[in-house]
Amino acid sequence: MDLQPLLNHFFGHFGNQESRPSFYFAPGRVNLIGEHTDYNGGFVLPCALQYGTYLLIRQTEEPVIRLVSENLPYQAKIPVSESFSRIGNEWINYPLGVLEQFRQRDIAIEGMELLFSGDIPNNAGLSSSASIEMVTAYALNDLLEANLPLIDLIKLSQKAENQFVGVNCGIMDQFAVGMGERDHAIFLNCRTLENKMVPLILDGFTLVVANTNKTRGLADSKYNERVAECQLAVTCLSEVFEIGQLSEISYMQFYKIQDQIPDELIRRRARHVISENQRVLNAVSCLWNHNILEFGALMNASHESLRNNYEVTGFELDTLVAEAQQFPGVIGSRMTGAGFGGCTVSIVKTDKVDHFMETVGKSYQEKTGLKADFYVAEVSDGVREVNKSNGH
Ligand code: GLA
Repeated sequence: MDLQPLLNHFFGHFGNQESRPSFYFAPGRVNLIGEHTDYNGGFVLPCALQYGTYLLIRQTEEPVIRLVSENLPYQAKIPVSESFSRIGNEWINYPLGVLEQFRQRDIAIEGMELLFSGDIPNNAGLSSSASIEMVTAYALNDLLEANLPLIDLIKLSQKAENQFVGVNCGIMDQFAVGMGERDHAIFLNCRTLENKMVPLILDGFTLVVANTNKTRGLADSKYNERVAECQLAVTCLSEVFEIGQLSEISYMQFYKIQDQIPDELIRRRARHVISENQRVLNAVSCLWNHNILEFGALMNASHESLRNNYEVTGFELDTLVAEAQQFPGVIGSRMTGAGFGGCTVSIVKTDKVDHFMETVGKSYQEKTGLKADFYVAEVSDGVREVNKSNGH
């Protein structure tokens, strides 16, 4: 990343070239498998991407917080004496939610200037929001000398999204953005936060992310609806099994007691979560055993369950996945993230990647009228301060 154009923009906007801002980066993430399991205390397997959010930040004498973005027009200028409140559906709510979390911990907020710049597509299921939250939290921790450990920054960023933005998300995104490690997938137990970095050795295969470019209308409210449906399933199953979250029972146990859930739709929601949890365990074994073929089959099965049981896919995601799965040289493809539009992730034979993008892109466009964007994923490190001299 070349720091100079961002610096120019920063000085162009805020002036005072005398005082240099600090420079931070937080990645986006792609989840390989384990979808809609995190808020059920289950397992996930995400990794951090090379794309993400850059932040230039500087303290000011004037007790005012100024926030601008290179990507979106909305700007804010908020006196530190004011309370923070949500502003429509603006991007600004992510950093504001994080600032509010610092304030709730009695950390004094001072005047500051922040310039954000992102290269992850917004609202595409690659965690642009967690990336903004985490880059803000990490930078504020330094600027305000708060000394919070990384895990606290992860938890407070999730809280910012739950309480300030109003999406009842789990912890996967903030965790992956915070803890990502180059060339590793993060095997995370979302109930205990125990985790292990699993080397992602794809031997001649490449991870390709594809954006359906379908607008994700009402995604947040549908997401919260799924969270509530899972809670309902827990209430029904608790009559026979004392559980607090769906991840606490195995698929075998669920199979025997599923009739405890009278509503067929709620039963399917639970079936997805509990079977997906098992698929993550199997997928992790595949990675340790270098069994990429079986890993791909699990990705396909995950998509099928997200389509039929959890109903978070839709025409565009299903079409893009079906086209990818049919392509010779693909061993697995599925939606990634919350769904309702957004991105897919596929494992593609490395020497077929260009052909894959062209062929799948063409047939997707013919069927949906939309142009997909493709990205070769490089699995990268988590949030960090960027070295000032070379921009890395
Ligand atoms: C979104 C949420 C995550 C997770 C995924 C679905 O990305 O932010 O917490 O629930 O959806 O797996």
